[in-house]
Amino acid sequence: MKSAIIGGTGIDASFPIETKRRTVDTPYGIAEVFEGVGAHSDLVFLPRHSAGHSVPPHLINYRANIAALKTLEVSQAIGLYAVGSITGMLPPGSWGLVDQFIDMTGGSRADTFFTGGQSGVKHVPMVQPYNLALRKAVARAALEKGKRDIVLKGTYVCTNGPRLETPAEIRMFRILGGDYVGMTAATETILAAEVDLPFAAIAFSINWAAGLDEEGVSFLEDETIHRLTGEIVSVCVDALRNPVTS
Ligand code: HPA
Repeated sequence: MKSAIIGGTGIDASFPIETKRRTVDTPYGIAEVFEGVGAHSDLVFLPRHSAGHSVPPHLINYRANIAALKTLEVSQAIGLYAVGSITGMLPPGSWGLVDQFIDMTGGSRADTFFTGGQSGVKHVPMVQPYNLALRKAVARAALEKGKRDIVLKGTYVCTNGPRLETPAEIRMFRILGGDYVGMTAATETILAAEVDLPFAAIAFSINWAAGLDEEGVSFLEDETIHRLTGEIVSVCVDALRNPVTS
């Protein structure tokens, strides 16, 4: 039974577990993963932007990444997402589980395995985009680590990027029910659902979104982000110890 953590901003340079790099050939292209060694040999780390953060959100090969997890027989995964806060649900410096998303990527990404023809047509349900048992496992692991203020829900607005938003867009997202904004979670969540991969998403806020901070958009210091992601990854490692079913 293998588990995966998909990470991005703030995580890829500093995954706190010893790993070895491996590339996985998939029908959609090559994905780069880092497999845990020793006590963590059942854990896979997938840096979604590739090592060194070299691929921007709108150009990530999301299908190769998710297909690679299936090839490696990963049976559950948690995605970690840096976001900008729109509401007080998740102010900068805090983190929590995502329970809904709004996809504003505009259909410009390869975000389905079902493109008709031989691959077929499938309309994957999105009523509960995230696996409940996995979300509970994260909440439990956080509590066991003494984190009592874990945020259990939130709506992630996924833009296409790579540019940040205008204040008018952020006002619109707030009216639509968005709690925070990022550029990757919706696409990854959709593809994980299409391959029946039990999936949870954790958002951690690194800034107030455009128009909400007098200084413009200002991000947390690297050191603070590093501490935040270290805490999240250690909770995820605990949460992924036991397998969940879809
Ligand atoms: N907007 C979009 N994506 C982000 C932000 C933001 O403000 N912060 C971190 N990822």
